Amino acid sequence: KNYTVIIPAAGQGKRMGAGHNKQFLLLHDKPLIVHTLTVFAQDTHCREVILVVNEQEIEDMSALIKTYGIQKTVRIVPGGRERQQSVFEGLKAVSSDEEIVLIHDGARPFIKVSDIQKLVRSAVQDGAAIIAVPVKDTVKQVEQGEVTNTVDRSSLWAVQTPQAFRLSGILKAHKRAERDGFSGTDDASLVEWIGERVRVVEGDYQNIKLTTPEDMWFAEAIIKMRKEETNA
Ligand code: CTP
Ligand code: MG
Repeated sequence: KNYTVIIPAAGQGKRMGAGHNKQFLLLHDKPLIVHTLTVFAQDTHCREVILVVNEQEIEDMSALIKTYGIQKTVRIVPGGRERQQSVFEGLKAVSSDEEIVLIHDGARPFIKVSDIQKLVRSAVQDGAAIIAVPVKDTVKQVEQGEVTNTVDRSSLWAVQTPQAFRLSGILKAHKRAERDGFSGTDDASLVEWIGERVRVVEGDYQNIKLTTPEDMWFAEAIIKMRKEETNA
């Protein structure tokens, strides 16, 4: 089943502390965003990439796509102040005859094509699906340095991207959220908020989001491990 993917890459990367957008940081000699784009370029089911970027980075981003020879139609659109606004801008650019849209963080370069396909199948069936992994740590609620509650871990999942939706459903959710001033930390929460169901597909612990400086080291380790696996 084919799809369009929106890749929000219009952040500032503040927590990474690199002094510029982390999408340009080199991972094994290639910019982070190039790794992410390459996964979707290699997936034959991906029709088109909508890359959401900062206005002042449009030229640098299009240069990267040329330099690294990304073999996929990539449309670049300017983002917004918050991630939710960036995704909404991306959604407005999706061709209206598309059925399934994926939303995937530019900062998650390790998503596997096999997991993308599992997710797309689930969204075709149920309308909305997200990739997540069971939480490994015990999670406690804390107020002013004191534990107020221990949450039952068996029901906790750490949510990643991609998240996949029917175009009509996610557009409706984003439009209402904008109208009513609702903000969620991921796209599925907007769909949940309008009362629609979201399926969970079990993903992979390697699908990390590069957020803080040590994540760059974890990322290099994942790349090395995958190289060794393919050479074995
Ligand atoms: N993003 C975006 N538009 C924004 C904010 C974030 O497109 N206004 C994108 C980021 O570029 C990233 C993804 O959303 O690919 C996930 O966001 P996050 O990991 O928080 O990245 P940043 O916002 O760049 O980092 P920080 O929050 O540390 O500043
Ligand atoms: Mg952010």
